[in-house]
Amino acid sequence: MSTVSENRALVAKLNRALGLEMRAEVMYAHYAEYVKGINRLYLKTYFEAEATESFTHAGSVRHAINQLGGEAVTDRDTTPIRHTTDYQVMLQEVLKTEQLAAETYHGILQMVTDNEELYDAIEQIYFAEVRSVEELNQLI
Ligand SMILES: [Fe+2]
Repeated sequence: MSTVSENRALVAKLNRALGLEMRAEVMYAHYAEYVKGINRLYLKTYFEAEATESFTHAGSVRHAINQLGGEAVTDRDTTPIRHTTDYQVMLQEVLKTEQLAAETYHGILQMVTDNEELYDAIEQIYFAEVRSVEELNQLI
């Protein structure tokens, strides 16, 4: 990052990712509680693991923002979390969330090609989001 405005744009994009992770945390925790039927046997654990992963990703992104001298947002992305007890609806909502996360991190990667440490950190998260999308495409 060579200029203040580039740095500001990067912090804004990281804050967008952070808001999405905080929303994902709540969404997964909510769905882990409300998922019904035989699939609960598997999906409750899956959603809980994904909530934990979102929490971890949020921590990494928050750290990156702080390292850049930025201020991390504390409010989650405002996109409503759809309440349902139907696991198929949940998985569709989750897929949309993961696709958006993957796109967001992909965009961030383009902005940090000159910062090896940050690139590596974001790439790890990006790969995790892509794996989630691939897994969901198998589940749905
Ligand atoms: Fe994530």
